[in-house]
Amino acid sequence: MSSKRGSPRDVAVIVGSLRRGSFNRRVAQAVKEIAKPGLALDLIEIGQLPLYNQDSDDDPPGIYEAFRKRIRAADALLFVTPEYNRSVPGVLKNAIDVGSRPYGQNVWNAKPGAVISVSVGAIGGFGANHHLRQTLAYLNVPALPNPELYIGNAASLFDGEGRLTNDKTLELLHKFVDAFAAWIDKLAPVAA
Ligand code: FNR
Repeated sequence: MSSKRGSPRDVAVIVGSLRRGSFNRRVAQAVKEIAKPGLALDLIEIGQLPLYNQDSDDDPPGIYEAFRKRIRAADALLFVTPEYNRSVPGVLKNAIDVGSRPYGQNVWNAKPGAVISVSVGAIGGFGANHHLRQTLAYLNVPALPNPELYIGNAASLFDGEGRLTNDKTLELLHKFVDAFAAWIDKLAPVAA
């Protein structure tokens, strides 16, 4: 999981929305562009993961194994999530649960993380952001404490092609990426 000196850090990005035209996915794409070349962001698909059932721990479906392997290989984690009913969408919680098991084989363990919440509402998914932080603490994922990033009024931030064009938001994302890169360097030192 440790990067070689000079190569970009491998960041697994988990987006909590499956919606075509998702604002969260668009924000994740914008972060991906901003973060180059130091961080290589890879958007990991989670919509195909069957609902987690503990019975499968002894004989997991191949798709679980592939997902767990991909997360295990990552240097760091970025979660970009909507808020559903003041919490995280079930699809995101399901992916987190899949990665957390079987017991003792939590693939999220000790990877530096960060959370962005994006909402059409005014308070930017604050509830989801903090519910997610609670889960990450339990899974031993140290989540970047500051800057916090709650992106509200999301429908107004993009151009006709879905590109993030709002200057204030882009400025926040640049600061966030700088802090996240420093957080990764601090918690996951590069191998010699
Ligand atoms: C929402 N939405 C929403 N927004 C919010 O700020 N707080 C909330 O609790 C909820 N709850 C909620 C529940 C469900 C089931 C849906 C479908 C939506 C609105 C949400 O912010 C909006 O749909 C975003 O566009 C979702 O993000 P994506 O799909 O654009 O990335």
